[in-house]
Amino acid sequence: MTHATAHSPDAPLDASATIDGAEWWRSAVIYQIYPRSFADANGDGIGDLRGITSRLDALKHLGIDAIWLSPFFASPQKDAGYDVADYRAVDPLFGTLDDFDEMTQAAHTRGIRVIVDLVPNHSSDQHEWFQQALAAQPGSPERARYMFRDGRGPNGDTAPNNWESIFGGPAWTRIVDDDGTPGQWYLHLFDSSQPDFDWSNADVRAMFRDVLRFWLDRGVDGFRIDVAHGLVKADGLPDYTPPQSAGSMGGTGKADADLPPYFGQDGVHEIYREWHQVLTEYDGERVLCAEAWVDPLSTMALWVRPDEMQQAFNFPYLETPWNGPALRAVIDESIAAFSAVGAPSTWVLSNHDVVRHASRLALTEDNPQGHGIGPKTTDRPDTELGLRRARAASALMLALPGGAYLYQGEELGLPEAIDLPDDARQDPTWFRTHGTRYGRDGCRVPLPWEPGAPAYGFSETGASWLPQPADWDAYARASQLGDPASTLEFYSRALWLRATHQLGLGALEWHDAGDDSILWFANGPVTVVANTGDSDAATPTSLIEATRILTSVPLSGDDVIPADTTVWYLTP
Ligand code: NOJ
Ligand code: CA
Repeated sequence: MTHATAHSPDAPLDASATIDGAEWWRSAVIYQIYPRSFADANGDGIGDLRGITSRLDALKHLGIDAIWLSPFFASPQKDAGYDVADYRAVDPLFGTLDDFDEMTQAAHTRGIRVIVDLVPNHSSDQHEWFQQALAAQPGSPERARYMFRDGRGPNGDTAPNNWESIFGGPAWTRIVDDDGTPGQWYLHLFDSSQPDFDWSNADVRAMFRDVLRFWLDRGVDGFRIDVAHGLVKADGLPDYTPPQSAGSMGGTGKADADLPPYFGQDGVHEIYREWHQVLTEYDGERVLCAEAWVDPLSTMALWVRPDEMQQAFNFPYLETPWNGPALRAVIDESIAAFSAVGAPSTWVLSNHDVVRHASRLALTEDNPQGHGIGPKTTDRPDTELGLRRARAASALMLALPGGAYLYQGEELGLPEAIDLPDDARQDPTWFRTHGTRYGRDGCRVPLPWEPGAPAYGFSETGASWLPQPADWDAYARASQLGDPASTLEFYSRALWLRATHQLGLGALEWHDAGDDSILWFANGPVTVVANTGDSDAATPTSLIEATRILTSVPLSGDDVIPADTTVWYLTP
């Protein structure tokens, strides 16, 4: 067999080109930037827009097509910016609108598209509309933009229903009127600082259409829609108790469970049809991507019907363990469900709400990720095994047809930061559950750029809003650059091969390996074998002579595919 040479980082990759008439997002690799943890230009310990601009070349080198930025809008930061006080302003923590325009231009110059995060289910309690609602009377037009209700019981002191916040604790908070007496209750599916809008209200609908246009006019290529399944609540707000399986973002985690009365209601689709129309007023294939934690995939596919959104995050894929039959089933189900409505599937393994997959894939069924992991978690994931599986899982994902989402730091092989001290934690989940759920801070620690530098080069001053583990030198981008065995070079090679062979636009054809822990398929000229089992597997005879173009870890021989390894072959 022969080995292909390492890829040249300067090889042309024109992310702005449309391949064969297919829209860019059908096959794109979109990289999630969590702005507060990416790069800090002014040294205050919080990443910012100028920090992103200064590091775009690293992303160009990696070979991604687009970036999606988690919220950087004006916000009291009670939920790391998912509590928006002004949808048209940049929070001074992250910079200015000029900084945003400069960043967008710098990205576009490099052929990288820019997607921003829209949070329409709720605002911050500091949004001027919520402040007006508090000052107004029950039944007023100001209150009608949010979900205010009278309490139950003789004095109205029982919440309007039994719903719980996804972050823990009740989903209702009672306000105190100006004269000091208890007043109405308002709904917040998340933190009490995040009141839910009432989407039957015309002001709310009009405001968000304007917000879409505001950012489209500034040149953004699309929006990731936060809680895209939650905007409309069932009539009468009936009581509901979530199943034990519910995950950190409130999905049921069960394909056969009934949808909660606050998720997946029919009325949401009309809203997205309206937004679809707004996007079509603009040139350049703008895109909407749904964050919709609904099961099964055939339900999720409703969000990406031809007149609604373009993409939806494939959370059932993210939630699938490193297990051959389970992966094959979810891949088939995804492709079937999305193709049935003419949409591409997407694939994702990590984001800012779940345990990083370099740790998660080494957890066991007895010790699942639950709501985060931390110092008191027993049976910690093995770092080496986790990274090995993560690389194998990423190599599998990046060979699949459709779009893929990466979360900053996975290309460095970053594990979850487990040992964050209690007093550093900032996730509202941690506070609302009085420390019983660790929450999501462990996947949000600022990125390491240079070994040995203050804050590993994240900020010049060494400041970092969450403490970085002391042993991250080897994960730093500069430590990995140019080392062919590194996770970073593995990712950039995978992305280059994926683009070269147009795997995102391809089609998948399964082969039978006679062992269901081995996934074996072809996508165009590339054949992929993933060994999800715990022992060596013999390389299929027909592939022994084939050119091996990517291995998830360096391999010594050709005859064997070791446990937790994925290999790509060129089979023209
Ligand atoms: C989903 C976001 O990804 C998460 O980070 C946030 O806390 C909730 N939506 C509420 O906005
Ligand atoms: Ca900063």
